[in-house]
Amino acid sequence: MLFYGSDIGIDLGTASVLVYKKGQGIVLQEPSVVAVDKFTNEILAVGEEARRMLGKTPQHIEAVRPLKEGVISDFDTTERMIRYFIEKSVGKHWFRKPKIAVCVPSKVTEVERRAVEEITRFAGAGQVYIIEEPIAAAIGAGIDINRPCGSMVVDIGGGTTDIAVISLGGNVVSTSIRTAGDHFNEAIIRYMKRKHNLLIGERTAEMLKINIGTVYGDTAVVTMDASGRNMLNGLPAKIKVTSDEMNEAMRECAAAVIDAVRYVLDKTPPELSADISERGIVMTGGGAMLYGMDKLIKEKTGINAVLADEPICCVAIGTGKYVEYAVNAEKSKRHESQLTL
Ligand SMILES: Nc1ncnc2c1ncn2[C@@H]1O[C@H](COP(=O)(O)OP(=O)(O)OP(=O)(O)O)[C@@H](O)[C@H]1O
Ligand SMILES: [Mg+2]
Repeated sequence: MLFYGSDIGIDLGTASVLVYKKGQGIVLQEPSVVAVDKFTNEILAVGEEARRMLGKTPQHIEAVRPLKEGVISDFDTTERMIRYFIEKSVGKHWFRKPKIAVCVPSKVTEVERRAVEEITRFAGAGQVYIIEEPIAAAIGAGIDINRPCGSMVVDIGGGTTDIAVISLGGNVVSTSIRTAGDHFNEAIIRYMKRKHNLLIGERTAEMLKINIGTVYGDTAVVTMDASGRNMLNGLPAKIKVTSDEMNEAMRECAAAVIDAVRYVLDKTPPELSADISERGIVMTGGGAMLYGMDKLIKEKTGINAVLADEPICCVAIGTGKYVEYAVNAEKSKRHESQLTL
């Protein structure tokens, strides 16, 4: 059966892909991972199923993350992944192809932006709208971006941290740094090697970060067992790790995020600075849930930082709302020109 493709917003993230569908909200949330058979180039699994294979595949199967640091590092696989997610969320046989909005980090080059647009079109979109990630995050966090009032958004994702001051619907000052959730994991892996001679995998590092990670040492110390391979004798090993150690491991990464926030504040026009110090900083993205990040931002900037509701979903919700807005704006423009004919 043919049906009208619904218009959707896609948060094409380094860590996960989320799809927002008009009237239904978030209809898909899966890791941005694809498992490929290296001999036949066939896709064996996408999303959650592929993530379970990460680091555990036999030699001929490779589980890859086609996006790195917020940009596409493997075009062919990204296109196939987007096609799979579009089909999963809006079906395969359309009477009208879906209009799709996709977000990109604020500092991508024109070439990268065009690549995302082209890939989404190849993957099945009738029309593609590109929106900058901090703008989408702000819309999704419920900020009225069109007001003449400064709002600051700090979106800490997996691959990039996007920071922007938004007023009257646009970015006034922004930056995007390639220090985000994945880098915190890498810092933990490096720390475990250095301090404990223990080689741990990406998933273990992420569990440590989520369960006992902190960037603000103000609470009772908690511990967790980390399993890996002892680098000295090559045997499996388990070590008790403390939250204080995690704080030490992630200190540099956290400082990079703070530096970027201060950089944007420093470049912000004074009228908008006043708005921000009154309204506070809104934090979105999965990485913003890292324990103590809000307190650290507040301590280092003197401005209150608040975690948005459902921080992981903000960008997708904002992207979806943007496509609704863009489609409606086009409709009323068409209507207006018909009236003037
Ligand atoms: N409770 C938590 N505490 C700390 N970090 C978390 C938590 N939950 C998720 N994360 C981290 O959030 C990151 C993913 O966030 P998100 O889904 O917003 O990224 P993304 O949009 O895919 O990436 P990007 O925007 O950089 O392309 C991962 O690094 C993950 O480890
Ligand atoms: Mg994101």
